[in-house]
Amino acid sequence: MSWKATVVTLFPDMFPGPLGQSLAGRALENGVWECRTEDLREHGLGRHRAVDDTPFGGGAGMVIRPDVADAALAATAAEANIPCVYLTPRGRPLTQADVRRYAAGPGVMLLCGRFEGVDERFLQARGVEQVSIGDYVLSGGETAALVLLDACVRLLPGVMGSELSGVEESFSDGLLEYPHYTRPAVWEGHEVPEVLLSGNHAAIAQWRQAKAEETTRERRPDLWSAWLARKNGNRAAAV
Ligand code: ADE
Repeated sequence: MSWKATVVTLFPDMFPGPLGQSLAGRALENGVWECRTEDLREHGLGRHRAVDDTPFGGGAGMVIRPDVADAALAATAAEANIPCVYLTPRGRPLTQADVRRYAAGPGVMLLCGRFEGVDERFLQARGVEQVSIGDYVLSGGETAALVLLDACVRLLPGVMGSELSGVEESFSDGLLEYPHYTRPAVWEGHEVPEVLLSGNHAAIAQWRQAKAEETTRERRPDLWSAWLARKNGNRAAAV
């Protein structure tokens, strides 16, 4: 049975978009996953199929109506136990742990916002998870939905050629990944770190671990603190 992505959007033509290419595209053709869309506009009200209205309390922009969002959600006939995710910069940050959880289940239902957002009562009443892909504002949730789907689809069984490449990568152990090098061994006078040419697998593993730690400490103090806390916690638990 294939993993099901259902996307509620005002721009159904944006899907599968870039995910129709490469690894995800092949997996889509092979039925590993399915990408369905539900056009929010079809559930709009009146002659103009209005999906939004002005915000109570005043202010700029428009808000997607709860009744319209709910009609679209109901029309998808998504399985009851499927996670329903609204992409918004107000959401909690998407992590690899979330991605693993979504990929391990039957699929996801994604709601893409435009304008100022979606009526909060709908999100609360239907148990919609609110997720952000980063601290910047996109013009709509569609590109964020594509990012989330890309991250999930690559983890589906059989999508990635080498299973190991899914394990040995950034975030799998809470650290950023070590740097990579390939031929030529000298490029514009820059040499590849000698240990990588040594054939000493233990020394290579040790060097890579040290580089992963150094990179994480420099670039992501948040991840570094969490990793240190976990490491020290494990050590405390072992004695
Ligand atoms: N919609 C607009 N900006 C977004 C973001 N950063 N993450 C998720 N959805 C969004």
